Amino acid sequence: METSQRYSRQKVRIVKVFCLPLAVLLVGALILSAQTDLTGFWVLRVPVGSPTYFELKQSGETITGSFAHTGRPISGTLKGGTLRLVATFTRQKETGQTVYEGVVEGGVIALSVRSSGPRKPVKGTLERTTREVVFPSRLPLPELRDVPDNGLVRTPPMGWNSYHTRPINDATIRAMADAMASTGMSKVGYTYINLDAGWSGRRDEKGNIRGNVNFPDMKALADYVHSKGLKIGIYSSPGSDACSGSYGYEEQDAKTYAAWEMDYLKYDWLCANRIYGVWVGREPFERRYKSTKEEYQGVYQKMGEALFRTGRPIVFSICQYGLGEVWKWGANVGGNLWRTTDDINDSWESMEANGFSQLEIGQYAQPGHWNDPDMLEIGNGGMTADEYRTHMSLWSLLAAPLLASNDLRSITEETKGILMNTEVIAIDQDPDAKPVRRITQEGKTEVLVRPLRGNDEENSVAVGFFNRGDQPAEVGVRWDSLGLGTVTNNGLGQKSFKARDLWKHQPVPVTGDRYTTTVSVHGVVLLKVSAVTRWPR
Ligand code: GLA
Repeated sequence: METSQRYSRQKVRIVKVFCLPLAVLLVGALILSAQTDLTGFWVLRVPVGSPTYFELKQSGETITGSFAHTGRPISGTLKGGTLRLVATFTRQKETGQTVYEGVVEGGVIALSVRSSGPRKPVKGTLERTTREVVFPSRLPLPELRDVPDNGLVRTPPMGWNSYHTRPINDATIRAMADAMASTGMSKVGYTYINLDAGWSGRRDEKGNIRGNVNFPDMKALADYVHSKGLKIGIYSSPGSDACSGSYGYEEQDAKTYAAWEMDYLKYDWLCANRIYGVWVGREPFERRYKSTKEEYQGVYQKMGEALFRTGRPIVFSICQYGLGEVWKWGANVGGNLWRTTDDINDSWESMEANGFSQLEIGQYAQPGHWNDPDMLEIGNGGMTADEYRTHMSLWSLLAAPLLASNDLRSITEETKGILMNTEVIAIDQDPDAKPVRRITQEGKTEVLVRPLRGNDEENSVAVGFFNRGDQPAEVGVRWDSLGLGTVTNNGLGQKSFKARDLWKHQPVPVTGDRYTTTVSVHGVVLLKVSAVTRWPR
C-alpha cells in the first residue's frame, strides 16, 4: 500500500514537473499558430542596409507571398510557432537561397537571415506594416522655378566614392581620407570623400535621420575628413524608407546634413519610381517605372531648394541615370552634376558604352554644372592599364567628374600614375569647359578634340586618338584639322605648332601635314597641341 502510494505520488510529480509544462507549451504553440495570421504587409529591418518589404498570405501552416517591391516569390511555413521563409535568388548566374527563420511571439519577430554563399547570417526584425508605407502616395511637388546657383564646382568635382568598398564604416572612410592625403591625391585635386549607399540607419522619434551601427557619429566623421583638408559627401534618395530615402523629410534631412557639415549630396532616384513612377515593365528593375520630366524636375527641385535654404554650400549631385534628358534641366533644379548613363561597372564594355555615348550632350556641361557618366573604375582590376588610360583620357576630354572608386589604402604605383597624371587632370579641369567633338572616325578608331582656354599668344586643344578595336591600329589627323588654323607667317604674326604626349610626358615633333600614331588595343594617345603666335615687337 505504502509502495503504491509512493509510486502514484511520484507519477503526480512527474506529470507536474515534465508533462504539464510540455502540454502547456504544446497547446500554447497550437493556439498561437492557430491564432497567428501573418497575412498582410511586413517589413524586415537589418542593422545595415535598407529594409525589405514582404506581402504574405497564410493558409493553415503554409505561407506564400512575395517581396512587395519586386514581386519575387517567397514561401514557407509557420509550424509550432516557428516561421521559416525561403526565397531563391540568382547572383552572377548562380542560384542560391535565403532562409528567414524565427519564433513568432509578440508584434516584433526576431529573424535570422541566412543566404547561400559566403555571406554571414544576419539578425533582423520583422514587423507588420501597411500598404501605404510600402507604396507611399505622391507628395505634392513644387511649382517649377529656378534654384539659385550655389557657386560651387566651377571645374568638375574630383574625389572618391565608397560604392565599391565593402563593408563601409566609420573607420574605413577615415582610412580613405588618410590615404587620399598620404598618396598625394589631394594635392593634385581630389577633394571629396563621398559616402554612397549604406551609411544610414533608422530615424529617431523626431524623424531625424541617423547613421547606422557602422556610423555612430556622422558629425565626428565629417570633422575628421575636414581635418585632412578634404570635403565629405553623403547619399540619399527621394524614395521612401524602402530605400533609406528622404521622402517626406527633404527639408529636415537637408538641415541635418548641413548640421553635420556635409559638403556634397548624391541624391539617387532608386525607389522613388514606386512613388512617382508609372509601371512600364521593362528591365532592369529600377527602370521598370517611368515618370514625366516634370516629376523628375519637381522631385529634384524640392531637394535642391532644401539644400540651398540651409545656407551651407553643398554640391548637389543628381543621380537618375539620365532619365527625362536631365542635362537639359539639371542646372535649373540646383544640380551641380547629373548622371547621364546607367551604372558603370569595371569592364571595358561598360566604360566604353558610358564614355563614348556622351559626345552629343557636351554643350550642357558648364562651369558649376556637369554631365556625369559615373565614377572612375581605375584600379579596380577589371580592365587593362591601357583601358584605364582610355577611361581617364575620355573622362577628362568630356569634362566629367573624376570620382575614383578604388581602394585607396592599397593603390598601386600604376594606378597612381593614371589617376594622378596632372597633365590629363588639367584637361578635365580646363576652366572654359568647352565641349569635345569627334573629328574623324574610321572603323574602330576615332579622334576627339577639345579646345582649351587660350590667350593672344597660345591656343591649345587636347586631342585623343582612340582605338576601340581588338587589334593595334594606326590613327592620324592633319594638323590643320584641329581648329588651331595653319602654321603661318603672314607678316603680322608667326604661328607655329607644338605638341606634347600627355601619357609619355614628352614633346612630340610637329613635322609634315599630319600626325599618325599606332594605338594599342582599347588604348589611347592623348596630345596637347598648341598654336603659338609670335607677334612682331
Ligand atoms: C544606384 C546608383 C549607383 C549607386 C547605387 C547604390 O544604382 O546609380 O551609383 O549609388 O545605386 O546602391
